Amino acid sequence: MQDETLFHQSLSKIYQSIDVENITSFNNICILGVSIIVLAIVWKLLKSLISEVYSSFFHPLDRFIDLEPKLSEMKPSTRTSFLASKSRKRIGDFPPVYPNGWFKICNSWDLSPGQVIYKSMLGLELAVYRAQHSKTVHAIDAYCTHLGANLSLGSVNGECLTCPFHHWSFNGEGKCVSVGDSPLPMPILKKNGQFKSELSVQDSTLDIAKNKSGKLAESCEQVEECEHRDGIPSQAHTKSYTIIERNDNVYLWFDAEGREPHWQPPSVRQNLFTHGKIAHHIYCHIQEIPENGPDANHLNVVHREMRNTFGFVWNIWGAKWQKGEKKEDSHVAYFQVQHVSTAMNDRLKIPFSVVDVKGGQYGPGLVMFEFSTILGKFDLVQTVTPVGPLHQHVEHVLYVPWYIPRFFAKWFLILMTSFVEQDIPIWNTKTYLPKPVLVRTDGPIGQFRRWYSQFYSENSPTLKSLSKRSLEW
Ligand code: FES
Ligand SMILES: [Fe+2]
Repeated sequence: MQDETLFHQSLSKIYQSIDVENITSFNNICILGVSIIVLAIVWKLLKSLISEVYSSFFHPLDRFIDLEPKLSEMKPSTRTSFLASKSRKRIGDFPPVYPNGWFKICNSWDLSPGQVIYKSMLGLELAVYRAQHSKTVHAIDAYCTHLGANLSLGSVNGECLTCPFHHWSFNGEGKCVSVGDSPLPMPILKKNGQFKSELSVQDSTLDIAKNKSGKLAESCEQVEECEHRDGIPSQAHTKSYTIIERNDNVYLWFDAEGREPHWQPPSVRQNLFTHGKIAHHIYCHIQEIPENGPDANHLNVVHREMRNTFGFVWNIWGAKWQKGEKKEDSHVAYFQVQHVSTAMNDRLKIPFSVVDVKGGQYGPGLVMFEFSTILGKFDLVQTVTPVGPLHQHVEHVLYVPWYIPRFFAKWFLILMTSFVEQDIPIWNTKTYLPKPVLVRTDGPIGQFRRWYSQFYSENSPTLKSLSKRSLEW
């Protein structure tokens, strides 16, 4: 009993000792702190939502997707069999790995005047730059003929590219137009601390950028008129490549025999505008990708279910493939596809949209799709550029009429490339069978292979010839 009284007495003492006002202000601080945190989270979410909405309306699409399974994420047993299948694939009896034709280097917007980039494709190492005055794009061998520095680290001066190592300069045709400065005489300083009179430190970039009259050169021809203090050996010249810019794409002509282009990449239809691109890396032989064109049967297997629609949208496909018959279009293969989207489930199939697509495969590296939709004509350009013997950089650029909102164009591009993403796991893991077992219901795959073989020539690089040159890939 006495204990209880003592307990109550001490409790009331503690209660009296507590400053109630302090408790209230402590609570207020807590409430303020929590509110600030909640507000910060809401603001962050709101900001990312606003920027997502803003970019979907105003920014062009620029996506890069690499679907190759990551080795580090695989179970050890899967990793072993994946690596084994990869090396088996390399032994396969492949056609040459770099066919002849036009191949995309980059988008026009990747190169502003005076900008230089490095590109490795088709077994070539390139320095690609846009001239400052003519705004023409040039591609020359990346390695300087002097001591092998990488020219893509250099700078563009007028129409020429200057090496970062000793300032040799090359024009767009690969001609070496300047070999930089002479070495300075020794010693540089006189005993009285003055520079030697014959010492004239000149900037070689100015030397090549000015013509005889001392004015800034505006073309390579003018630059060649420059006076050089040293003779330029003919071995100093480097290799240049034929470039064409079309529909915001920069293409390079590749021919293993060194022949000039005998056809040009096509243009998209008039009054269409692009809103960006989606790029994928695919690990297979280049011929495997267009071989899906004549293989109409795979459409109703691989592309039957629309991705990310939870089994609600199903596709039905019909397709036709035909090679160009005339001499002038022998490098083209034409195709027509009808794509019907159906709703509900795989059995009910209620059609709700029909899209007709026609187009052409132009050489090994370029496909044009022309869509007819209720919203007007859309063009899609697919480019395949080999960046390694069995490694393709594939890009899709969509062109739509001016009245199509950007977010819709981007959604359409994402939808179209989602079909390609259904093919990628198959391409990444299949091998090339030189003598496949074909049946009557197969598309004209044999015809396609005969047509495609025109892009290989005597000196086209093969896996064998490349593996002698490098063990790296
Ligand atoms: S390596 Fe290019 S100038 Fe010397
Ligand atoms: Fe496909």
